[in-house]
Amino acid sequence: MIDEIHAARDEALRRVEAAAGVADLDGAESALLGKRSALAALRQRLGALDPDERREAGRALNEARARVEEALAARRSELAAGARADRLEAERLDLTEVVPTRRRGHLHLVTQTRDRLEDVFVGMGFVVAEGPEVETDWYNFEALNMPPAHPARSMWDTLYVDLGPPESTLLRTHTSPVQVRVMQAQSPPIYAVMPGRTYRRDTADASHLPVFHQIEGLVVDRRITFGDLAGTIEAFTNAYFGPDIHTRLRPSYFPFTEPSAEFDITCVFCKGDGCRSCGQVGWLELGGCGMVHPNVFRAVGYDPEEWTGFAFGFGIDRMTASRHGIDDLRELLSNDIRFLEQF
Ligand code: DAH
Repeated sequence: MIDEIHAARDEALRRVEAAAGVADLDGAESALLGKRSALAALRQRLGALDPDERREAGRALNEARARVEEALAARRSELAAGARADRLEAERLDLTEVVPTRRRGHLHLVTQTRDRLEDVFVGMGFVVAEGPEVETDWYNFEALNMPPAHPARSMWDTLYVDLGPPESTLLRTHTSPVQVRVMQAQSPPIYAVMPGRTYRRDTADASHLPVFHQIEGLVVDRRITFGDLAGTIEAFTNAYFGPDIHTRLRPSYFPFTEPSAEFDITCVFCKGDGCRSCGQVGWLELGGCGMVHPNVFRAVGYDPEEWTGFAFGFGIDRMTASRHGIDDLRELLSNDIRFLEQF
């Protein structure tokens, strides 16, 4: 009798395991535990046994029934989880937007300009360096020959960061502090360009942005002359704008160079004849430059008797605008796809 009970239990467990779905399992449940089940038939026979055997067989039957019920419950939750996963998969919606177009994105015009400028300078033997946008007063002003309260500091409307002592941390107003960092990090000779984002407390208008981009150049070597500076600027201008665009230097003042100059390029619109874009002068203002001031060399521990150098810096956004005939710098930041797509 005990063997028969175990055989019926094992057979029932196999059925439960083999059930393919919840409906199948419902059918199996009544067949295995109902009135016509093998276990029910065995129970019918208990009455014919003598009392000891009956007790033993009764316990075995109860245990077998409990095992089968347990297996049914486990298999039921397993099948329900599978059914739920299947339903979720079937109901899944693909929300990935597919824009039916062959147009692809591209780099922003200012980034393209920056890349091209870097290429031109790398072709001339320069390396590219970068520095932080959040600077200290020392790098942005003091090391560039502008001690505290130097009147030339007012040439840059500065945005300060609320960090450390008042006015000690700022958003760099030009890329010139990167010159100082490059000189600190290595010894001459140096031939480097340093592009990056710069900040000034300006209200945006057609020709000013509070956040803009500059590229800085620095050469430090022995016996560098103003002629090397003028030649480098002319060579770069020809390479970038083409052979009919030239440069001229006008005397100017920057605290970190002596002598200093501003450099202009032939007006790209009228090629020098004079037009509205250049105010009839035939030239467009591009940037500042000069021979590195001895005090800048001293700030980084270079001997100004031994080393000479020149530096320059100009705005990438304005240069982009003049090359592509953009009459309002704010277009570069408006994120208007109709504008951006043109370049
Ligand atoms: N840093 C200057 C500015 O933002 C531009 C400049 C002038 C950079 C002369 C130079 C330089 O390296 O020699 O207005």
